[in-house]
Amino acid sequence: MTKVAITDYTFDSLDVEKEILEPLGCEIASGQCKTPEQLIELTADADCIIAQFAPVNSDVVEAMNRAKVIVRYGIGVDNVALDKAREKNIPVCNVPDYCVDEVADHTLAFILASTRQVFSNSQFVRSGKWGLAVPLASMKTLRDMTVGVIGFGRIGREVCQRLLPFKAKILVYDPGVSDEDVKESGFHPRNLSELLTQSDLVTLHCPSNAQTQRIMNRKTINQMKAGSILINLGRGDLVETEALIEALESGHLGGVALDVFDPEPVPADSPLLRMDNVIVASHIASASVRAVRTLRETAANIVVRAIRGEPLPNIVNGVKA
Ligand code: NAI
Repeated sequence: MTKVAITDYTFDSLDVEKEILEPLGCEIASGQCKTPEQLIELTADADCIIAQFAPVNSDVVEAMNRAKVIVRYGIGVDNVALDKAREKNIPVCNVPDYCVDEVADHTLAFILASTRQVFSNSQFVRSGKWGLAVPLASMKTLRDMTVGVIGFGRIGREVCQRLLPFKAKILVYDPGVSDEDVKESGFHPRNLSELLTQSDLVTLHCPSNAQTQRIMNRKTINQMKAGSILINLGRGDLVETEALIEALESGHLGGVALDVFDPEPVPADSPLLRMDNVIVASHIASASVRAVRTLRETAANIVVRAIRGEPLPNIVNGVKA
């Protein structure tokens, strides 16, 4: 019997995965693992592993005795010890394109809600008042703004395309993409300092890795224009939380919108939850019926390929398929 361990999931059931995997004689063992100990117990003897947010760290990977593949239910792979898996010749695969439109749409929702003060004005009217909830200077229009996009991959590009009709000037920083590529797409390449000092709003769409963690720290946040807006739908640890709170408290940042936090879930006593100019969501930007169905089917079908010994798609840790 092939054991497929599903370490954690945010869906109502695992019916999609079972429909694909059980006819192949797989036994699905699932949990809602939060700790490495729970993960080791579930995955040590598993043939294939699918993980959503659980911390599949090096101890967990080290303890895997039979793993043919680790599949991440999602795009980011920062919760999986990629190097340790490579050392043990275990391919790690992600699902790269299931939610690009959803996250790009959500980014625009955050940008427009922040620039047009949608929540503050809604709250104002609900509380029985009438008029403008914020100072006039806080009501901004994208036509007059410069937007800085950090990370020009699948999602960053879609965000840029969606911003075009709003007539903002769009700056891009991505060390993995040539200036020509950015220019040919109709945008303006910048280095990180230039982008931060020239933008009225900055949105993060790079992965979380050793180079990008805390890319927005006290120094880089201070480089942003006074009163500017920071949007993060990438990963919570791209931003130094303490520095973010300080910049909001001092008024240096005019607004923030976050789908991701460090740590997650955001602690109930976080000052971020009490500030009127902070929009929050619970890491749900990828959600839609279509996206979740595609995510689950793709993850299960990668496991099918691994069981059959077929070449694997989307290997992100350099192991040969
Ligand atoms: P992608 O791999 O297509 O693009 C990432 C881009 O970031 C690449 O062009 C890469 O060159 C660039 N990059 C790498 N290092 C950089 C750096 N130091 N500075 C600036 N750019 C850098 O990935 P995709 O699909 O666009 O997703 C981006 C990230 O969005 C994911 O890694 C994930 O963390 C996050 N995400 C968040 C979701 C949510 O629900 N909030 C859902 C899906 C993805």
